[in-house]
Amino acid sequence: MHKAKVGVLISGRGSNMAALLYAAKAQDCPYEIVLVAANDPQAPGLSLAAAEGIATFGQSHKSLKRAEFDQIIDAQLRAAGAQYVALAGYMRLLSPAFVSAWENRMLNIHPSLLPKYKGLDTHQRAIDAGDSHAGCSVHIVTAELDDGPVLGQTPVAILPGDTQDSLAARILIAEHQLYSRTLADFVTRERQPDWLLGKVREAALALPQADEIVSHGMPCFGIVKGKKFAYFTRDHHGDGIIAVLVKTTAPEEQATLMEADPDRYYRPAYFGAEWVGIRLDLGDTDWDHVAERLRSSWRQVAPKKLMGLMDIADEF
Ligand code: GRF
Repeated sequence: MHKAKVGVLISGRGSNMAALLYAAKAQDCPYEIVLVAANDPQAPGLSLAAAEGIATFGQSHKSLKRAEFDQIIDAQLRAAGAQYVALAGYMRLLSPAFVSAWENRMLNIHPSLLPKYKGLDTHQRAIDAGDSHAGCSVHIVTAELDDGPVLGQTPVAILPGDTQDSLAARILIAEHQLYSRTLADFVTRERQPDWLLGKVREAALALPQADEIVSHGMPCFGIVKGKKFAYFTRDHHGDGIIAVLVKTTAPEEQATLMEADPDRYYRPAYFGAEWVGIRLDLGDTDWDHVAERLRSSWRQVAPKKLMGLMDIADEF
């Protein structure tokens, strides 16, 4: 099984890192930890990771500018082959360059039910507010602190007499379960049909006068009251394939694509010779290319009047 490579950044205890690491020991876990790095060489989590045979890196951020330090961490992550980053109690604000270098590839766990209680002191703030539940959230990291899209949450009931410590200890149990599950879902989402359909839909419906219907049991994109330019197929007739079918300019183009990349392009059964299937389930889809193909397919079926609109738009 191909496993996604994850680098984990910590600052201290590293119990969430340990939870990710132990979950990764299961054979069917879709990720593996390739590096644990800390901004404190004494972080207890580093020795735990090292004892488990994981590569570690610890360096103090003191005396370095934020961007300089982040560059060092970035280089370590890349040298370790990390494809994703999991922040686990990493008490550093990140430089914009680092955040954008790992855009949509970096997660964080936060001990509150976001969007409530960003930042510190989350447990006490939940108790003081009289909330019935506190909890934890895993979210995608964006430039704003604790602000990116939430991928998963676990509510945790606040008990009468809870202190911030007793509540934090209980939420930590929930954190350890939530993080590995959410990370596992996240690294496999590019193989999940609904996520892939969402990506195709976004690109297809961005084209002029495009709409979506169901045709032959498949989500299908066409020009309103006009011809179809794309079909999304998932396991059609039990073939196990997830793909988008688009029109090429001519049968020769279909043949050229299939010859250039026979694993990705194929001739869809029951479609004309100018249609080609582009597999989306190979894990390395170039979405700009898919958008370009959808656009070119749209051009094959668009009425002249609409083509004029597209040509004008293309000039800008
Ligand atoms: C956790 O409560 C986590 O939610 C927060 O920092 C704490 C880290 O704990 N971001 P640990 O180092 O994972 O034990």
